Amino acid sequence: MKTYVTGAVSALSMIVSTSAFAEPTAEVLHYWTSGGEAKSVAVLQKEFADKGGSWTDMPVAGGGGDAAMTALRARVLSGNAPTAVQLKGPAIQEWYEEGVLADITDVAEANNWEAVLPASIAGHMKCEGTWCAAPVNVHRVDWIWANAEVLSANGIEMPTTWDAFNAAAEKLQEAGIIPLAHGGQAWQDATIFEAVALGILGPEGYRKAFVELDKETLTSDAMIAVFDQMRIMRGFVDSNFSGRDWNLATSMVMNGEAAFQIMGDWAKGEFMAAGKVPGEDFLCASTPGEGFLYNVDSFAMFDVDGEDKKAGQQLLAELVVGQNFQKVFNLNKGSIPARTDVTLDEFDSCAHLSSEDMKASSEGGSLLPSYAHGMALRGAQAGAITDVVTAHFNSDMSSTDAVQMLADGIANSM
Ligand code: BGC
Repeated sequence: MKTYVTGAVSALSMIVSTSAFAEPTAEVLHYWTSGGEAKSVAVLQKEFADKGGSWTDMPVAGGGGDAAMTALRARVLSGNAPTAVQLKGPAIQEWYEEGVLADITDVAEANNWEAVLPASIAGHMKCEGTWCAAPVNVHRVDWIWANAEVLSANGIEMPTTWDAFNAAAEKLQEAGIIPLAHGGQAWQDATIFEAVALGILGPEGYRKAFVELDKETLTSDAMIAVFDQMRIMRGFVDSNFSGRDWNLATSMVMNGEAAFQIMGDWAKGEFMAAGKVPGEDFLCASTPGEGFLYNVDSFAMFDVDGEDKKAGQQLLAELVVGQNFQKVFNLNKGSIPARTDVTLDEFDSCAHLSSEDMKASSEGGSLLPSYAHGMALRGAQAGAITDVVTAHFNSDMSSTDAVQMLADGIANSM
């Protein structure tokens, strides 16, 4: 009996000491594979290693993360979930509902996340009151990027209305320059579409259409006008656009082959990684219209066995919301920190514009989640919209047919 008790006690103390000193490990599934993205994720890998962690990288190439999400589903279904996953928006809650996410409330409370994150961001990180994801940044989606020299050589200013954009694009086309660098992938079509929709519908119309899925707004004359503008945009892309990756489109603007790109500010990460200077080599402005479409990257931890993996999850969650990481990562990524207490002194003018516009739109009620980047809707509804956007962009479908398909697609996805 005595021996049994002693054995049990020493076995217990071994478990405690193993868990307290387990070397943190993490297998991290992400889709940050372009130049700027790889530089950004390297910051996290280094901080993790500096703190004694061992990182196994699982990058799944493919902008917007569709391929990564397919890989994730396969891993979870086979009972072998990665420890940490780049996941965002309502997909976090969808995975939580499947019962496969780890609770990181301890880390969040110990590090006072509630006090350092804006409520609008914190809300996305919670699942039934517990913390189930850690945010790294705020990307703005409704940006237009331009080659500064191409614009000045052609006497063109950054457009502030869609009519001005169309006029500038026609002038560039006549001068033999590709007006709009674009990659024909569904998520990129959706990225342009939501920026056009925000401009034409206005913030309230956008909210009704892409947050509330209001049928009247989805089939309105204003939505027809959005598709009309998309048809015009289609005329401004080059004939090789199909399947092109977003970062190759950014390179076209960098090297002057094309004038504009409409893309989230991860594109700025590419310009910066190539040594380009904002305001000199390239210009940034919000797309025509009011409002701000946000896209918050975050990590969710999956429920896995093993003290080393659990220690890795804790360390990773703590690091990504840390003040230093939020600064250095976002300087590379093109986004701005999610935390409100990180100074922007070292950030460029585009980041300052983003931060000011975010504050103003938050106060004015026009800070809106990006549907194209999985922040506004669940996967099925977002997918139903993107299917129509892409089908319309790649055919001669009329705008009236498109809005009808939109309403039908949403109804069928519910
Ligand atoms: C993500 C970014 C990423 C971009 C291109 C967006 O949906 O939020 O972090 O850089 O897609 O892959």
